[in-house]
Amino acid sequence: MKKFFSVSLIIWIIFLSAGLRAQHHDDRVYFWPEDSLVKEKLAWWQNLKFGLLMHWGPYSQWGVVESWSICPEDEDWCARKGPFAHDYFEYRKAYESLPSTFNPVRFNPQRWAEAAAKAGMKYMVFTTKHHDGFCMFDTKLTDYRITGPDCAFSGNPAANITRGIFDAFRNKGMGIGAYFSKPDWHCPDYWDPYFPPVDRNVNYSREKYPEKWERYKDFTRGQIRELLTDYGRVDILWLDGGWVKKCADTVFPDGKRLVNQDIDMPAIAAMARKLQPGILVVDRAVEGPDQNYLTPEQRVPEQLLDFPWETCMTMGNSWSYVPGDHYKSSAELIRLLCRIVARGGNFLLNIGPGPDGEWAPEAYQRLEEIGRWMEVNGEGIYACKPAAPYEKEGFVYTQKNGFIYAIYLTDQDVFPEILKVELPDGYPGKPLLMGSSLKVKADISKKGEVFIPLTPELKSLLKSSPALVFRFAGKR
Ligand code: GLC
Repeated sequence: MKKFFSVSLIIWIIFLSAGLRAQHHDDRVYFWPEDSLVKEKLAWWQNLKFGLLMHWGPYSQWGVVESWSICPEDEDWCARKGPFAHDYFEYRKAYESLPSTFNPVRFNPQRWAEAAAKAGMKYMVFTTKHHDGFCMFDTKLTDYRITGPDCAFSGNPAANITRGIFDAFRNKGMGIGAYFSKPDWHCPDYWDPYFPPVDRNVNYSREKYPEKWERYKDFTRGQIRELLTDYGRVDILWLDGGWVKKCADTVFPDGKRLVNQDIDMPAIAAMARKLQPGILVVDRAVEGPDQNYLTPEQRVPEQLLDFPWETCMTMGNSWSYVPGDHYKSSAELIRLLCRIVARGGNFLLNIGPGPDGEWAPEAYQRLEEIGRWMEVNGEGIYACKPAAPYEKEGFVYTQKNGFIYAIYLTDQDVFPEILKVELPDGYPGKPLLMGSSLKVKADISKKGEVFIPLTPELKSLLKSSPALVFRFAGKR
């Protein structure tokens, strides 16, 4: 009996202390890290605010979705197109032969790094390996790689694309992130060619063939080891494919499966931290301590989230290169950034390079326009924290070093005659409009409200800018 009580007491203590460390929000749970180097890196990363994501691989030649067209699920995003679409195996064979013609001779990562840095981006995450298993780095563990014998680009001096990209962006002073897919649909120890794959999951019984799964774990860990050993400083290990995780086998009413695929994340994270002390590990969408920040995808959370997070979003409609893709306007992208920062997050904006190794001209143009806005207004973005009331009546709010930045987003249906700003106590309410010599008139109410009449000059500025930043200094 005594033993029972002490055991249950211990269980309660573990339960309660886990509850203290874990924060429930946005239907997700966040675990604060304990390692002081990770905490330090996290604080550094949270200040960066704006980063670049790139999805690139041989699939760009077909202008199709990254990887998913070889996943035999009946989902829109897995739909096959083109001459081989009618036959899964024929299609997969053609897809997996794509490296033989992948020859991005215009690849020039310095140009990308330059454009990203000018746009005010401070870090970069690149798909070193997506779910299809093709490695954009010089792995020793498979021939299915950019430097492999069957790849058209392998003879090029710049063939180790990941190295070229990491070096170019690091040279611009940017943080470096390695996107890496935990599932690998090319590896025979994940999708055993003996069995046809049925969905995104491992396609054999792990109970029946445990040695196969062990091999897969070694392979995965081996490739991550390569990436974190041979490519200089890496700040983020961005692991995708959240269905590869420890879980209970489940079949849902619609037939979808969750298959227990314990890849041993504690071992991966421990190895990563040994090789790159303090590295942020992002085990996407897997609840637990190996997700140093959360990654809402293609959306901005409704409200402030007070743990580290990053919205990843496409500049066009797709993650991968699609000819003629529709790109969001720079004004829209700037406002997304403002909203994200005012809710406490970072913005990771994706561009999909084309098969020749270039971005679409629209991508450069958007980055240039964002850069011009950031040059003037970046002060209200970088290293800023959200400020109450966060978003109200057209404004979003950030703060830093005793300043409040009230950012007016100009995507309102109608502009009011008077803009209303809400300030905390102790802010006298004299605004400075960033990047402008215009003397802004302001009436201050007792309740900390500031009323800014929309003069013709201000109105014309509003019409030509994606967002205007008004800075308020606190009493000193
Ligand atoms: C989605 C896509 C995946 C992509 C990821 C990036 O999950 O299915 O292919 O890599 O978004 O966030």
